[in-house]
Amino acid sequence: MGDSLDSCTSHSIRIDRCVCVDVTFERMRVFADKEGVADVEPLRRAFGCAESCGLCEPYIEQMLETRTVIFSSPLPPRIPQRGS
Ligand code: FES
Repeated sequence: MGDSLDSCTSHSIRIDRCVCVDVTFERMRVFADKEGVADVEPLRRAFGCAESCGLCEPYIEQMLETRTVIFSSPLPPRIPQRGS
């Protein structure tokens, strides 16, 4: 007994990709390192990530800053800036 509670509390989330285009942050990091990418735009153009729902964009920014490719806690979504 108690196993079900233990297993419920031991679950963690794993955020490792743009799910809209199924490209991992690891793959993006390899590309970024090879191409000297410092912001999201070149990755958006190369992979199509951060173009649909945009939920991956804060993780991609964090990946570029820290080289982290697997996240275990949610980051706040980026609110799109429309117009000028
Ligand atoms: S998760 Fe990347 S655009 Fe939706």
